[in-house]
Formats: sequence, structure tokens, C-alpha cells
Amino acid sequence: MTTVEGPPLQLDDIQGIVLRTRPSPYVGTYILLRVDDPGAGRELMGRLAGLVDSAANWWQPPLPALLNVAVTYRGLEVLQVPQASLNSFPEEFRQGMAARAEFLGDTGESAPAHWEPPFGTGQVHIVLSLIAADQESLAVVLERARQARTQLPGVQVVYRQDLYQLASGRTSFGYKDGISNPAVQGSGAAYPPGGGPTLKAGEFVLGYPDETGNLPPMPQPAALGRNGTFVVWRKLHTRVAAFRRYLRDNAKSPEEESLLAAKIVGRWPSGAPLILAPESDDPDLGADEQRNNNFDYASDPRGTVCPHGAHARRANPRDSEIIGDVDLHRLIRRSTSYGPPLPAGTLDDDGADRGIVFIAVNAHLDRQFEFVKSQWFNDGNFTGLDVEKDLLTGDNDGSGIFTIPQHPVRRRLHGVERFVTTRGGEYFFLPSLSALHWMAGLGS
Ligand code: HEM
Repeated sequence: MTTVEGPPLQLDDIQGIVLRTRPSPYVGTYILLRVDDPGAGRELMGRLAGLVDSAANWWQPPLPALLNVAVTYRGLEVLQVPQASLNSFPEEFRQGMAARAEFLGDTGESAPAHWEPPFGTGQVHIVLSLIAADQESLAVVLERARQARTQLPGVQVVYRQDLYQLASGRTSFGYKDGISNPAVQGSGAAYPPGGGPTLKAGEFVLGYPDETGNLPPMPQPAALGRNGTFVVWRKLHTRVAAFRRYLRDNAKSPEEESLLAAKIVGRWPSGAPLILAPESDDPDLGADEQRNNNFDYASDPRGTVCPHGAHARRANPRDSEIIGDVDLHRLIRRSTSYGPPLPAGTLDDDGADRGIVFIAVNAHLDRQFEFVKSQWFNDGNFTGLDVEKDLLTGDNDGSGIFTIPQHPVRRRLHGVERFVTTRGGEYFFLPSLSALHWMAGLGS
């Protein structure tokens, strides 16, 4: 582990989810709230300010539970944040995720018209994220959150999504997830080796210089913006049976099927990266934090080991030759699994809702999350893949293509369908702890 230095961050003012990894295994829940009475909403913010976990001391053994809170643009309006302040938020956040659907590839089945209510309707104002190491600890934070809302009839629960880590420790598609995250300067945290350079804090926390050397545009006043950030929240349903059938139909043997699955992601199910384990899965490597992210793509310019179109290589091309600066498009991921696993070997859909709640933390929604989603996942041009989209998460319509470079002739898979459907999502502003107090004091 290497401790990452840099200008110190105000860790006790930054919400824990930004810099703190979640426990493993984990259980948790997201509670979405609508504020009908601005005064009640502000009162809730004040009460939560005392309960929310900060990023201070996060390098200590993980806390049993973590409570965090974030607000949509509509939520800020309802809380009566002054107009001048509202105007200082970035355009994409003000529009909200549903308005960005075409651009993000939320089309067809994933279009906002098909989202679960109340996503995309302006009725989601606040999200509470509760993540714990076990049910007992979760019950403790749930009770705290419930207490915070007592006698506030002007704040209604409009949606709840429970989550838990599958017994396999993997996502519903069968892969280990959440391995690679950027190291943040000044966090004082210890990061495993690899995964690219440590990044300036301003990529993930407002009020500090970012990779361009400038301060990111920050919502005003500073009491509201500083030490805050933006969170992408997306409920992504995974079509596991369809994905398994696709693998089976495009492989001649179980070995070929598992190699194809690895080529699609860039890692084997255990998490072992293809670059370090080109032939077969290596569970020891997958489980070894010191090695499983310690690689780049310099040795594989043609993608014959890890295709340029592999999900993880698209999401973070590391040192691959691409146009632009990779470090300007990094994301901190805090995604969690929901729903039951599809039993091993089952190739028919059982109708259950399963997938991940994708969570990304970034200071610039446009050049980080939106860029990765629209350019690197849903557009192939940056690596010469032309019309190809990410096979795993792209908005493919049944005529998608996936290229696997190999000797003597590359392999091209056709008929790629949509394996991930967006069931709803919102952009949130994740305020600092002191900004929660600031919001609470707005009415007075
Ligand atoms: C159901 C949807 C998704 C699944 C199942 C999934 C799965 C995975 C897996 C298995 C990995 C490799 C393990 C790791 O490095 O953590 C990965 C990496 C990654 N994914 Fe996803 N992912 C999904 C959606 C997304 C979305 C929507 C984005 C962003 C727009 C994204 C961004 C990333 C990033 C940035 C990495 C790390 C790449 C690296 O640094 O090497 N993923 N994902």
C-alpha cells in the first residue's frame, strides 16, 4: 500500500462515500425522499448534518455503517436555495439525468418513459445512502435515519432500493467489480499499487485544484459548494440470462466461453486482469490487491490480449494511445449489487430484478461521467472501433458488433443486444457536512 500525499483535504467536512471504500461484504439501502414542505426539508438537512459520516479517519478499519446524503437540483429548488446559487450549478446537473437521456444512451427500453416512478419526474429530492457491514449495523443507521425524519410529514419516502453483496462477492453477471478506483491526492489514504497516477483532489472534490491545474467551477457561495461533489446514481438492471446465452452462442467450448467473457470485460470473473493472465483465470491474482490492478496496456497496443473494446479498457484506457488525456475522465465508483443471483447454469430469464446501482463520484459531470458514457462506451471512434459500443453496458439494439483482435485474423461478433437496462437514475449534489448546516439555516 502507498499513502498518497498532496495538499490536505478537509476530510472532516467531506462526506465519507467520496473517499471511503465500502465494507465487504455489505448490506444497505437507498432511501429516496420528496420534500413537500421546504421548512421540513431544511430541518431534515440540519438533523442529518449531525449523523452523516465524514471521510476523516477513513483509513481506520471500516466503520460498521456509513450514512450519506445528497440532493437533486429540484431538491435544491424545493429547499429554497437562492436563485443566484442555483444558477451557479452546472447545466447538466440543472437539467437532470432524464433530460440527458439521448446523449447518455438511455434510449429504447432504457428511456426515461420506461423508468420506474418516481425517477426522472422531479419527485426525487434527496437520497440517503446507508451501507453497513451487516444487518445489525444497518438497523442502527436505519433507526438514526428514521429518527431524523420523525415528525416531518412534509418529507415523504418515495422509493427504496435495498442492496447487498452477493455471496459470490461478484456482480450478477459473475464478475468481481469495484477493483480499480483512482487514488486521490491529499486523502492520506493508502491505495494498492497500479491503476494510474494519483489524481489531484479537484477531480473529485470541489474547492481544490484539478488535473488542469485550475479550481473546478464551484456552486456558489463557497459555503455551499466547497468540499462537495456530484454523484451519478443509476439503477441498472442486468439481463443475465440473455448475456449467458450470448456467450454460449458465440463459443465452441466452455473454455472459449470463459475467455470470451474475459475479453468482454478485460478481466476474468475473479478480477484477474487479462493483461496479467492472458490464457485463463487466476483466482489468486484476482484476490491479490497488491497485484490485481498493477498493470497498463503498453504491452498490448493492438489489443490482442485485452481488446480495446473491453469494458474496463474503454472505461479507463490507462496508457493506451487515445486522443485526449485519460486523467481528465476518471471516476470514483461506489456501485452496489441488488436483487437475487440467477442460479448458475440457468439460461432462461426468471423475471427477477437484479443488477447494480451504479454510483460514480466526480467533480465534473460533463467531462467525467458523461464523457465516459457517451464517448468511450457508446462511441467507438476513439479507438478506431467505429460504430462499436461497449458490449456489456452499451445501448446496443441487437445489431451491435464486438471486435476481438487476434492472429491471424481478428474475430468479429455480431448481433450484440442490450444486456443492461437503465431502470431509473438521477444526478445528485453531495454537499459537505458544513453545507448541510448552511442549507438548514436558509429559512432563518
Ligand atoms: C451493470 C453495469 C456494469 C457492470 C456489471 C460493470 C462491471 C465492471 C467490471 C466487472 C469492471 C472490472 C473490475 C474493476 O476494475 O472494478 C468494471 C470496471 C469499470 N467500470 Fe464498469 N460496470 C458497469 C457499468 C459501468 C458504467 C455505467 C460505468 C461508467 C459510465 C462504468 C465504469 C467503469 C470504470 C471506470 C471501471 C474501472 C476501469 C479501470 O480503472 O480499469 N461501469 N466494471
